[in-house]
Amino acid sequence: MKLNWVERLVVNNPLRVVEQRFQIRWMHKVKPLSPTDLVLEIGCGRGAGSHLILKEMHPAVIHATDLDFKMIRLARRYFAGADNQRVFTYVADAVALPYGDETFDAIFDFGALHHVPDWRKALKEIARVLKEGGTFYLEELYPALYQNFITKHLLVHPTQDRFRSEDFRQALTACGFSFQGSLELKGIGILGVLTKG
Ligand SMILES: C[S@@+](CC[C@H](N)C(=O)[O-])C[C@H]1O[C@@H](n2cnc3c(N)ncnc32)[C@H](O)[C@@H]1O
Repeated sequence: MKLNWVERLVVNNPLRVVEQRFQIRWMHKVKPLSPTDLVLEIGCGRGAGSHLILKEMHPAVIHATDLDFKMIRLARRYFAGADNQRVFTYVADAVALPYGDETFDAIFDFGALHHVPDWRKALKEIARVLKEGGTFYLEELYPALYQNFITKHLLVHPTQDRFRSEDFRQALTACGFSFQGSLELKGIGILGVLTKG
């Protein structure tokens, strides 16, 4: 589901970049990337996350993807210059990723899955295109944050089958992921580094 203008303001601003830099540094400490890694980001938005992954974790190449062409257009502008030899941008829906099985060494999700109505299908797709032994880095939010009595009037999200800590962890395990590290604010959201297999 695409963002409304309020959430576009929330994610497309310098404070979000500061927050993501801390998150990516924590992810790097839990499990660094290797310089030959091929990486996918789902729901990349305007591309600040992929830019930081390149700067902080130094993979070979990133495919930055998003459902919304407007976001991909912003990302192409964001990457113009130094990054554009190592970042490829595509419109792609997380529930039908246009890649073969076991393509990527690592996959990143910064706050995209909770926008996907069939998030379980998206998790299966992530598991499918990730290599055995590959890493899934994620930041996700729970409905108490994005569907509380204030935010439900400001933001637009799917309303059915929303995941919280317990069912999210169960679905990740069912897709074959195991946690290498996690930081969780109960009821609010989670940062995680997981291995497939
Ligand atoms: C909250 S924004 C996060 C953007 C960026 N990752 C960040 O952290 O700043 C969620 C992003 O997920 C994208 N999105 C929503 N549904 C999607 C889907 N089914 N497949 C891929 N991307 C999706 C939205 O267009 C939006 O850019």
